[in-house]
Amino acid sequence: MNSPKYFAVVPAAGVGKRMQADRPKQYLPLQNQTVIECTLTRLLQADVFTTIAVAISAEDPYWPELDISKHAKILTAAGGKERADSVLSALKSLENQVQADDWVLVHDAARPCITSGDMHKLIETLKNDATGGILALPSHDTLKQVNGDNIQSTLDRRTVWRALTPQMFRYGVLKQALQQTQGNLAITDEASALELTGLPAKIVEGRPDNIKITQPEDLLLAQFYLEQQ
Ligand code: C5P
Repeated sequence: MNSPKYFAVVPAAGVGKRMQADRPKQYLPLQNQTVIECTLTRLLQADVFTTIAVAISAEDPYWPELDISKHAKILTAAGGKERADSVLSALKSLENQVQADDWVLVHDAARPCITSGDMHKLIETLKNDATGGILALPSHDTLKQVNGDNIQSTLDRRTVWRALTPQMFRYGVLKQALQQTQGNLAITDEASALELTGLPAKIVEGRPDNIKITQPEDLLLAQFYLEQQ
């Protein structure tokens, strides 16, 4: 049997309303380029991916203007209504080059500080697993379960982790889970699709600087982390 290949899927078809900017957050400037160029450069530098499929909205005028959109290892796929739809579309765009047992690492376009070290740690930890898992962070704060602004209880923080990306799954397993759960708005990451189909996924501790650009101040923080790394 051939050893499995590694593919990356980058959902980048969101509009990023919380940034209150004139363009989707993946096209905001960061280190003399855009957020998505920083992210894709990091994935290319990891030197493990056969192809990186990027899901882009049909109305996106920015992507075709970037040189990186024409890179030989980068494939453009159609974005979808929700993040999960974009990921499924990108998975389908890889159909003619992938086997069911190959690995797919799904990584948010809006996480430009991902390191090669974390990608290789995820791969090394999970490469013999049947299903896969995700980078995640333990919670250091005390966590409250609330209803509106009323505290209901305190969660045991040893059992609660924050999900990051990349999320790494066997191609066949992930595609089937996303197809089975299509239209379910509770699917905000790949692991949640796996959970709903009853498949176990693992957590691998990631770096805290792998932030997702969500609010305007996150760009300054990402700039700082990229300089420090
Ligand atoms: O909005 P949020 O920060 O959760 O988005 C996470 C990632 O999913 C972003 O990279 C965004 O571009 C992507 N996304 C997508 N298709 C959508 C919605 C979000 O590819 N319909």
